Amino acid sequence: MLVAGNWKMNTDVPDGRALAASIAEGLSSASSDLGTVEFLVCPPYVHLPAVTDALADAPVTVGAQDMHAEDEGAYTGDVSAPMLTSIGCDAVILGHSERRKYYDETDADVNAKAQQAQAHGLVPIVCVGETLEQRKAGEADTVVQGQVDGALSGVPIDSADELVVAYEPIWAIGTGESAEPEQAQEMHAVIRDDLTERYGTAVADDVPLLYGGSMKPHNAYGLLSQPDIDGGLIGSASLAAESFLGIAEKAGKVLEEARD
Ligand code: PGA
Repeated sequence: MLVAGNWKMNTDVPDGRALAASIAEGLSSASSDLGTVEFLVCPPYVHLPAVTDALADAPVTVGAQDMHAEDEGAYTGDVSAPMLTSIGCDAVILGHSERRKYYDETDADVNAKAQQAQAHGLVPIVCVGETLEQRKAGEADTVVQGQVDGALSGVPIDSADELVVAYEPIWAIGTGESAEPEQAQEMHAVIRDDLTERYGTAVADDVPLLYGGSMKPHNAYGLLSQPDIDGGLIGSASLAAESFLGIAEKAGKVLEEARD
């Protein structure tokens, strides 16, 4: 179970460091069993050194929110995979719907970045998800399958820990309106089938499939108890240690129940 925070373009560096420190502190004093829950935070680029430092002794890995598909070059304003690994990043979010919408990122762009991430040992967190119009038109499955195929073609993975896929229905992101657990599960099953065809059952069964879109402490349990939902990619609720850890607690509860 992976609980991942996407801070987007929020907090300045001192506030980001303080947020990371409160997450570390909250995890060290957590009363419930979070033993096998894994944590990741993806702050803005300029926060990465401070956040990595603040989380040095915590069981939380650090990722970025995007990257360029080339190693280096004349790409003003961009950041590359080797830059990210050089400061201790383990993962990178790719193809978030906000990147697709505001920067016209295509599946081909996401694919090039996913290959580049993989080549540098960064785990790509590939985001997919349909718009409300596409859902209403009954196109959600096709759209999401197309995004998965577009992003992952030529990305061979040997083990499940080399890839994360996040299903984030666009209509649920930042709107406070989450998908119903069953709705999310249906789409996760579609994604799982796609990954199974691509990578075989042994690998696909264990690739973490995250749900994203207004996941909060109050709805996390229902979502995380679905068989194909292996964690969350959390936006606004990851900006306060209390709500981020509140979701983590629900993840811990789901895992504990699965063990019993
Ligand atoms: P949200 O964002 O939790 O604020 O809806 C999720 C995301 O965009 O990753």
